[in-house]
Amino acid sequence: MTQDELKQLVAREALKHVVEDAVVGVGSGSTVNFFIDALAGIKGRIEGAVAASEASAERLKRHGIRVFDLNSVDALPVYVDGADEVNEHLYMIKGGGGALTREKIVAAVAKRFVCICDASKLVQVLGKFPLPVEVVPMARSYVGRELLRLGGQPELRENFRTDNGNLIIDCHGLSIVDPPKLEAELNNIAGVVSNGIFARRGADLLLLGGPQGVRSLTVTQA
Ligand code: A5P
Repeated sequence: MTQDELKQLVAREALKHVVEDAVVGVGSGSTVNFFIDALAGIKGRIEGAVAASEASAERLKRHGIRVFDLNSVDALPVYVDGADEVNEHLYMIKGGGGALTREKIVAAVAKRFVCICDASKLVQVLGKFPLPVEVVPMARSYVGRELLRLGGQPELRENFRTDNGNLIIDCHGLSIVDPPKLEAELNNIAGVVSNGIFARRGADLLLLGGPQGVRSLTVTQA
């Protein structure tokens, strides 16, 4: 199976976790794109979606799925999103597409986070994938120096602005042994909007696509 076929497999599996007659939270990225396409097949059974990026919102709308503003929604039973890396505690690195801040907000609101990945995303220790950090433009150099101080090698993402108008610094070389601690520490740097460690609010369920099919992992199994 190709990586895209595995992504498609987990995306379809995620439909089983979508709550009928409710609004579903939708993340972003290539795996989520497959999920949105699959969601179109059951669009008559959901109220609509909240999207974590402009790109996802556009794709949902193209499929005729109603997109709600997060502020107009009281409850979000489920949020479905991909990850760049995930470990057995269902802590993740996200933000490869730069949508980390909105993803974190929608994930925070949702009751349940269903992460959909192909098997290549499962790691022992987070950090091989460069950690995205969203930064207010005027704080770019300062945050870069602070990341260096923490042992990382910051690299500004070229020609990129987030949906919120900010910059992304990709931080290489961090071995993230205590994800909740580093997540909080990075958030405390002035000028950081959010960072791509999703540990304080990790996933509740991981659907991992491999050649043998889809494995379902929860934190209690870790
Ligand atoms: C977007 O900002 C990310 O958090 C994505 O969820 C993550 O990069 C996974 O993307 P793919 O499904 O394209 O690998």
